[in-house]
Amino acid sequence: VGGAEIFDARMARRDLARLRRRGPARSTRRLLEGIVAQGANGASVLDVGGGVGALQLGLLEAGAARVLSVEAAPAYQAAAADEARRRGLAERVAYRAGDVVELASEIGVHDVVTLDRVLCCYPDADALVDVTAARAGRLWGAVLPRERWWVRLGLAGTNVALRLRRVPFRVFAHDPDRVARRLRDAGFEPVLRERTAVWHVWLYERVGAGGVRE
Ligand SMILES: C[S@@+](CC[C@H](N)C(=O)[O-])C[C@H]1O[C@@H](n2cnc3c(N)ncnc32)[C@H](O)[C@@H]1O
Repeated sequence: VGGAEIFDARMARRDLARLRRRGPARSTRRLLEGIVAQGANGASVLDVGGGVGALQLGLLEAGAARVLSVEAAPAYQAAAADEARRRGLAERVAYRAGDVVELASEIGVHDVVTLDRVLCCYPDADALVDVTAARAGRLWGAVLPRERWWVRLGLAGTNVALRLRRVPFRVFAHDPDRVARRLRDAGFEPVLRERTAVWHVWLYERVGAGGVRE
C-alpha cells in the first residue's frame, strides 16, 4: 500500500492533536455508536487502517476486550500506540504493520472488523472487502465515500495535488453498491446505513456462514 509518505509523522501529530482536542470525527462517532448499540462488550476487534486510533480506542473504552490494529502507515501506528498508552489501554491492543490483504493468511476471525475511511485509500476494494468480511465473525463496519459528484471532485482534486507533489499514492472512489453486494455475498445484512455529506457509515451483521477459522 502506498500512503506512508502521506500518512507520515507530521500528519499523525496533526490527527492526534485533533483527536485529543475534538474527539473522533462525526462519521467515526456514528460507527462507534452503531457498534456499541449492537453490543461491543467483550468483543475482539480487528481495526484496519485505524490511523491514530480514534475508533479502536473508543471501542476499548466502550467495553471491547481487545483490538488487533493492522495499519500500513508506521507513523500512524506509533501515534495510535502512544495514545493507547496515555489512556491506559495499551495492554489490550496488538499491532501489525502492513497491508491487511497481504497479511490475511496470518489474521484470524474477530467479532468486529472495522475500516474507517480506508477503502478510499486502497486500489483493490474487492480484495479488501473480501478479506475483511471473511474475518468478521459478527459485525463488519466501515466509513466509505459516497458516490456524489462533490465527493468525486474532492477525490480527483486530492489526486491532482498528489501528482503535483510527485507522491505516487492515490485515493479511490469505489462503487458503494458493489461493496454492498460483496458483503451480502459474504453472508452479511445491513444493521446501520447512515450518511453524512461525504461519507456512508455502514454496519453489517453476519447472518450467513462463511469466514476463516482462527
Ligand atoms: C484516511 S486514513 C484513515 C485513518 C483513520 N481510520 C481515520 O478515519 O482517521 C486511511 C488509513 O488506512 C491505512 N490503510 C489503507 N489500506 C490499508 C490496508 N490494506 N491495510 C492496512 N492499512 C491500510 C492507511 O495507511 C491509512 O492510515
